[in-house]
Parts: sequence; C-alpha cells; structure tokens
Amino acid sequence: MVELPADIGDELLARAAALAAFSEEEGALTRRFLTPAQRRASAQVMAWMEAAGITARIDPIGNVIGRWEGVSPGLPALIVGSHLDTVRDAGRYDGMLGVLAGTACVAALARARQRLPFAVEVIGFADEEGVRFGTGLLGSHAVAGTFDPAWLALRDADGVTLAEALAAYGLPLGAIGAAARRRSDVLAYLELHIEQGPVLERAGLPVGIVTAINGATRMTVAIAGTAGHAGTVPMAGRRDALAAAAECALAVEARCRSDGDLVGTVGTLAVRPGAINVIPGEARFTVDVRASEDKRRRSAADDILAANAAIAARRGVTLEQRVIHDQAAAPCAPWLMQRIERAMRAEGLTPFSLPSGAGHDGMTMQAIADIAMIFVRCAGGISHNPAEAITAADAAAGTRVLLRTIAAFEPRA
Ligand code: HGY
Ligand code: MN
Ligand code: MN
Repeated sequence: MVELPADIGDELLARAAALAAFSEEEGALTRRFLTPAQRRASAQVMAWMEAAGITARIDPIGNVIGRWEGVSPGLPALIVGSHLDTVRDAGRYDGMLGVLAGTACVAALARARQRLPFAVEVIGFADEEGVRFGTGLLGSHAVAGTFDPAWLALRDADGVTLAEALAAYGLPLGAIGAAARRRSDVLAYLELHIEQGPVLERAGLPVGIVTAINGATRMTVAIAGTAGHAGTVPMAGRRDALAAAAECALAVEARCRSDGDLVGTVGTLAVRPGAINVIPGEARFTVDVRASEDKRRRSAADDILAANAAIAARRGVTLEQRVIHDQAAAPCAPWLMQRIERAMRAEGLTPFSLPSGAGHDGMTMQAIADIAMIFVRCAGGISHNPAEAITAADAAAGTRVLLRTIAAFEPRA
C-alpha cells in the first residue's frame, strides 16, 4: 500500500496556513477568482505539485491541474479536486483542504513510482464560490464543458467583465472551450472537503461519505424608491428602498423556515446613498436558496420572487430581480460511495453518510462523470468564517481514506 508521510496531517495544516497568506485583504482571507492573490496561491500549489513529480498546468479558465500518468500516457483520469478561491473573510480549509489532500495522495503515488491503470488528476478549481461574478462553479463548468459564453459579459463590483479579467490574468480569450473534458476522458470525480456543518462532530466521527449535494438558486434584487430628507418627509407615502428590502429579507426567512431542509439567505445588502439623514433611494440584495429536492427549492424561489414583487407594488417602489444561478442537486454515485466505505473500513473508521447543504464542484462535474465526496469534521461545523478549524488527525484520516480509494480504484465495468 502506498503510504502518506506520518505527519501528513501537520503538513496539510501547514500548507493550508501558507495558502491562507495569499489574500486580497490585510488580516483576512479573501481570494476571489482571477485576482493576483489567486495567481500566487495557484503558483504555490503548482510548485508543490512539481516538487512531488506531478506535471502541473493552468487551464484556459485559471484552474490548476496536476496530472500523474497511468501505466501508459494519455489514459482516462480519475479526477480529484476542490477549489482554490474563497469567500470574503474565509476560513483556510474550505476548498484548499481538498486540493492539498489530493496533491498529497498523488505525491504518495509519485514517491512510490506507482503507476495505476488510469491517470490521476488533481484540480484546484479557480471559481467555486462565485464571489467575484455572482454565478459560481465557473472553473468546473469549463472542465465539464457547460460554460456559458454569455458569462464572459458578467461584471464584478468594479465593473470589470469576466472577459477582461481573463485577459488581465493572461489567459487566452476564446480558449475556454479547450478546458472541456469528454466523459470518456474521466473515470469519476472525487472531492474531499470539510463538512461545513456540525453532523460529524455531533456523531463523534472524523470522516463521512456524502450522499448528495443540495441544489442552489441565487438571485439578485434591485429596489428603487425615492431618496429624501430623513427629517422632513412624512412616514406616509415614503418610498424607502431599504425598508422594502428589509421586508423582502424577512419574507425570505419566513418562506424558508417552514419547509424541511429548505434554507434561504440574504447574504449581501447595499444601500444608496447611505447617509444617516437620507431616506434610502436604492437597495440591492442577493438571495441564496437551497434544498435537497429541486422541486421544493424552485417552488420556494418562485414564491420569493412573487413576494418581492408584491412588497414592491404595495410600497410603490420599483423592483428588478434576476435568477443568476440555478444549480440542480447532485446525487453521489452509490458505486463510488461503496469504494469510499471500503476505504473507511480499511482505515478502521465507521462508515457514516450525510447530505451536503453546501454546494461543491461535483454539481457541475456530474455532467461528465459520476461523483462522490469525503467529508472531514470541522470544529462546531463553522465555515465561511475565519474560525473554521480542523485537527491534523482528522485531516490525515480523510486523506488516508482518499488515498485508499484512489489506489484501489477500479473503473466501473
Ligand atoms: O455556497 C456554497 O455552498 C459553496 O461554499 N460555494
Ligand atoms: Mn465555500
Ligand atoms: Mn467549498
């Protein structure tokens, strides 16, 4: 059996700390798609890959791809991946842990000069979170061949289009199609990721097997009222854009509170002009809705759009709202889950399955391959927060399960 270093857990935590230093902000980890911080983090991951004897490259959308050939060059690949971009003020393990663990597994194969009957690729996706352009999963969409060229016109908060950002990053425009893989190139997609929830910790388990990734809808909403003097305009008849947005946010919460595993979040709110003595004339916010069943999620999204419109009409403000992301739930493949279960038992771990409320690149990769995920316990289930924490022992346990799954992998007959 190919071995990982005895201190692999410490190595993973140290490398996550090193990657956390590549940030757009002083004192916080924010690393958005196609930023100089992402370029530095990607270069560091490529250096680790190359030092381990893994051939590394940047693909046309900025993903980092490391490849370890099988017994002969050009064989279909088992892809192991996660993402290198982060949310704002992020933790250091969301995404990074999976890329580092995958790299460590392939490095172990390289160290042992172990050639498998297939290639193994580690992908560090460049844009899973979608913080910069709103949509998300753009890196894996390019690999899955589902990238929509209309997304090139998406603008970030500074008005920079995705096409301009790609050019500024030095990526050949019009080449994104070349990033796409065919189903025949890919044997399966595996991802190791922190759970980002409290289930494993409550069960007292370091590692779990994901059953499915919940589907997600994202919307942008812009409300326009009338800015005015806070002291002179009577309450009756005001067209207060922020008050309308606040009522919409509470309506999102009410709609989602009462419906199983449905969750709804208004994560951003911008108000103009934003002065203490001015009635807000403009309010822009986003809505994120998730559920394990797509029908329930889409029904909630429709209800939210209708509620926003009714609130705006009653308050006499205008409303512009768009669904910018609708990603179907992704079931994990039972045959892959069984391989992971076998690896867990071989590691003396109790197999335990759970759903993922968080989104992951497997949602897009399922277009070209069956998918499976390994979850690693994280402290308090906290994520998307600098307090995100894991132990070296749990990181090591998850990575050993991943390596066993890779080393024993047999393509589905
Ligand atoms: O939003 C999510 O679920 C993921 O972190 N991108
Ligand atoms: Mn995340
Ligand atoms: Mn993630």
